[in-house]
This record gives sequence, C-alpha cells and structure tokens, in this order.
Amino acid sequence: MANRGPFNLYEFFAGGGLAGLGLTGFRTTFANDLDRAKAASWRANHADPDILKLADVWDLTPSDLPGRADLAWASSPCQDVSLAGARGGLDARRSGAFWGFWRLMTGLAEQGRAPRLIVIENVMGLLTSNQGRDFAAVCQALHDGGYVFGAVEADAALWLPQSRPRLFIIASREPVAGGEEGEHPFHTGRIRAAQAALPDELKAGWIWWRLAAPARRNTDLAALLQPDQSAGWLDETSAAALLDLLSPLHRARLDAVIASGERRVGAAYRRVRTENGAKIQRLEIRFDGLAGCLRTPAGGSSRQFVVVCEGGRARVRRLTGREAARLMGLPESYALPASEVAALKLMGDAVAVPVVRALADQILRPLLERGVRTAA
Ligand SMILES: C[S@@+](CC[C@H](N)C(=O)[O-])C[C@H]1O[C@@H](n2cnc3c(N)ncnc32)[C@H](O)[C@@H]1O
Repeated sequence: MANRGPFNLYEFFAGGGLAGLGLTGFRTTFANDLDRAKAASWRANHADPDILKLADVWDLTPSDLPGRADLAWASSPCQDVSLAGARGGLDARRSGAFWGFWRLMTGLAEQGRAPRLIVIENVMGLLTSNQGRDFAAVCQALHDGGYVFGAVEADAALWLPQSRPRLFIIASREPVAGGEEGEHPFHTGRIRAAQAALPDELKAGWIWWRLAAPARRNTDLAALLQPDQSAGWLDETSAAALLDLLSPLHRARLDAVIASGERRVGAAYRRVRTENGAKIQRLEIRFDGLAGCLRTPAGGSSRQFVVVCEGGRARVRRLTGREAARLMGLPESYALPASEVAALKLMGDAVAVPVVRALADQILRPLLERGVRTAA
C-alpha cells in the first residue's frame, strides 16, 4: 500500500501506519517508531519501506526530516499523557515522547520549515490528566509555536462497530475561521469543559473545527467476524469458567439473550473491579453490536472475547487479529504480523482509519487547499 497525494506528511509514532493509510491526499515523506515489530508492520504495508526510521523520537534531529511537511501527525503513546513535567535538560526523555516530538517541531520552525498543520491524537484522558495541566501544556506549546488549534472527540463507533473515543487536536499555522462551539456531536461535553478551563490567552487561539457526522453505520460486530466453523472456540469447561466471572447483572444480560434462542453476538473483556472493598476479576459483556475498545493485550488478560449465543447456548472465543484489523477499518490486504498477540498489540495501539479519513477529507485537505489557493 502507498499513500499518494500532493501533500507531504510526517507520520510520528507511526505504529502500523494506520494514520497514513487514512490520510488520503497525503504522501508520507517521513515516518518514525521505536518498536521493531511495529516498524516491520509499517514497512510490510508500505510501498516505500525505507521512509520509516526505527528510532526513539528523542534521537531524531530536524536534519532527519526532509523538506517541509504540510502535516505532521503525532499519535504519541497513550500511557504517556503526563506531559506537563520537565521539558528539557537531563530529565527531558522522562517528560514524555510528546516533548521529543515537540522539540523537533521547534527545531523545524527555527529553520523556517514548521509544518503547516499538526494533528495530535491521544486518549480522552489527556483532557483531564494532571488536573488538565497536560492538555493546557500541549495547547500552550502549539500557541507558542504560532499555531491556532482546537480539538474534537471522535468515537470510531460512528464509522465502525468498535467503541473507541479518541481526542484529535488539530493545529494550523495559517489563520482559520473555525465555526461555533457545540454545533455538532464532536464538540462533546468533555471537549467543551477542557476548552473552558484553558487560560484566556489559549482560548483566544481556539478553533471549533467542523466535522460532519457520517451516514448511519450499517455494519455491526457480527458482520466482521470470521465464520463460526473456522473459529477456535473455548472448550465448555473453559467457557463456563470465564462466564462464571460475570457479575449478577451481566449474567442476567447473557441469560436473557440465550433464552431468546436467537443468534446474538456479544463482546466481553475481563476487568479487575473493586467490590465490597476487594479487588475481583469480572467478565463484562455487551450486546449492543459493538466491540469494546481494542487495547494492547498485557499478559493476555485484556484480550477481547467474542460470545455467540444461538439455539439456547453460548459459545466463547477470543477475538482474532484479523477481526481486530477489520474493527480498525483496515482492508483485508493489510499484512498482519504472524503472531496473534503481535497483531492484537498493533491494532490495540492504532488509530481507526475511517476517522482519520474523515478528518483528512473535511478539515485537513480543505485547509491546505485553501492555503495553496491563497498563496497562488
Ligand atoms: C498510540 S501508538 C500509535 C500507532 C499509530 N498511530 C497506528 O495507527 O498504528 C504509539 C506508538 O508510538 C511508539 N513510540 C512510543 N514511544 C516512542 C518514542 N520515544 N519514539 C518513537 N516512537 C515511540 C510506539 O511504539 C507506538 O507504536
């Protein structure tokens, strides 16, 4: 696969390259990740594999970055939301990968090569971590770098049968008129609260980006699953032991679905919950047609299960890497790692392709095209 288009893209924290695949109209001229397995997947799915530099973002310098990017995309690591710490000196690396990326953006600006647009993707927790100071620190950096900016909350569930809310901070070096607050579903309460808590100086540079909701989704989780006969089901004893972890409420939910006799597909995760002061492992199940948010499996415990009820019984199995790839909006031609755990890790960390495409189509390319026209 290759992304081709008139606009140059730097893809930071590139993982399996899903951001680049969603960015229609962009051509990746530089990509970076420090994880060897992720880099191998990026390269296996890209026509120009050598573009990806396998390195810690802190070890890069502006001279590694070719030309000028129209867009720098940074899906910095989710667990790395504590951003407000030290940003320089010996402690710099510990202050988070985001600041390694930002150091490069600053270096490019000093050379007159600041990217025209920047997108920072992260988990919603970035809005509130450290009492909102992390989000304010990112906004301050963008402001100081000469960018106007705003954020949207987009849940992949609008496009795909996976619940996956994510934060997209979109920043432009060129002035923009940016719409009204709260005029559509992507200016959620969480976004509005975080924006309201920013200092006035940062609020002044805020843009309410406009993004239209997609047409109603017409696929559910069941539509993306592999055929039952080729699936590796848990044996009855293992399935029963797993279902024993359901809370009374979730057990009742499952029993009602089984009793209907109809074919219904659910998704379930094991979670540790505190009940009556004690930590207890629970299985949590949903039958709303969505998979739960894909996560990076740590020690196998956070792997998602598929529960298929039919003819008065429930069968259980693990979600596969290919099914996870479909839940991220990838085509069947996307080459996954041979190991299921590696494939699930790759997908659990990734960004959903149709969400990126919507941002590219409705916000990013129009901004750049307008700029090109203005410049001409
Ligand atoms: C949230 S994932 C982004 C995935 C990507 N957007 C995709 O769709 O596949 C974050 C990525 O950052 C990489 N990463 C973490 N720390 C890094 C660092 N210091 N330098 C470079 N890459 C890093 C991880 O290996 C991971 O692939």
